[in-house]
Amino acid sequence: MHIVYFSPTHTTRQVLERITNGVNSNPVKHIDLTLSSSAWEAESDEITIFGVPVYGGRVPAEATHRLKQIKGNQTPAVVVVVYGNRAYEDALLELRDIVTEQGFVPIAAAAFIGEHSYTTSDYLIAPGRPDTNDLQKADDFGKKINELLLETETLSPIAVPGNFPYKPLGQKPPIAPVTVAEKCDQCGICVSVCPTDAITLNDLPETNASACILCCACIKECPTDARVNDSEFIKEKSQWLVDNYSERKEPEVFVE
Ligand SMILES: Cc1cc2nc3c(=O)[nH]c(=O)nc-3n(C[C@H](O)[C@H](O)[C@H](O)COP(=O)(O)O)c2cc1C
Repeated sequence: MHIVYFSPTHTTRQVLERITNGVNSNPVKHIDLTLSSSAWEAESDEITIFGVPVYGGRVPAEATHRLKQIKGNQTPAVVVVVYGNRAYEDALLELRDIVTEQGFVPIAAAAFIGEHSYTTSDYLIAPGRPDTNDLQKADDFGKKINELLLETETLSPIAVPGNFPYKPLGQKPPIAPVTVAEKCDQCGICVSVCPTDAITLNDLPETNASACILCCACIKECPTDARVNDSEFIKEKSQWLVDNYSERKEPEVFVE
């Protein structure tokens, strides 16, 4: 079994790892597309679980690009999106369509909730998700996938919510996290965790705002809390999320 994922702040990866617990299979191989593309072709009997976060109700454009390097041979697949308690809109349908186009047969699907990438101590948006309850549901989903693989002779594609044409991709303003000079010890971790190579370490880390996808990996991984989002755009968006999307949503699974 393989898990293929793009997961800058690791919630997607965490959910996928727990799903694999329930699937009775040989050791799990990871294809981590977060930092770079990886070309790989699956055999027809290698169940493959795909996971991406939801960005603006869609699959992140960078993830789509990297997923196009992965090929299946009518390989059974599971598609999973992880979203920050607002909505996943067309992302699950889009991920299902991408993997189908790449030669996989998506037999099951799920949408889980992960702590929103914009969460800080000032703006708590689905903090701590996936939590114990979510991860129990991920285990249960894995068991259902296992039953499906054992029971079904012919694998048929699963229907999932979403609309085509998909919601238009959001236009990201030219903003990026900044470095608080007095807190930064120039360790370079932010440079190494950036999925788009947007950060350069000069005296201090500098971010190319047009390459930054606002994934917030550099903020979450900085050991001295020196990376912050200080833009009004992110603060307003975070407050809007807190005001409108604080009511807990639950994971949804789709298995025939
Ligand atoms: C640029 C961006 C856009 C996002 N858009 C959405 C969204 O449309 N709906 C939602 O509920 N969460 C949204 N989120 C939150 C992420 O989907 C969520 O935090 C997810 O758990 C991150 O996955 P990761 O930890 O694997 O990176 C967005 C996050 C970012 C960085």
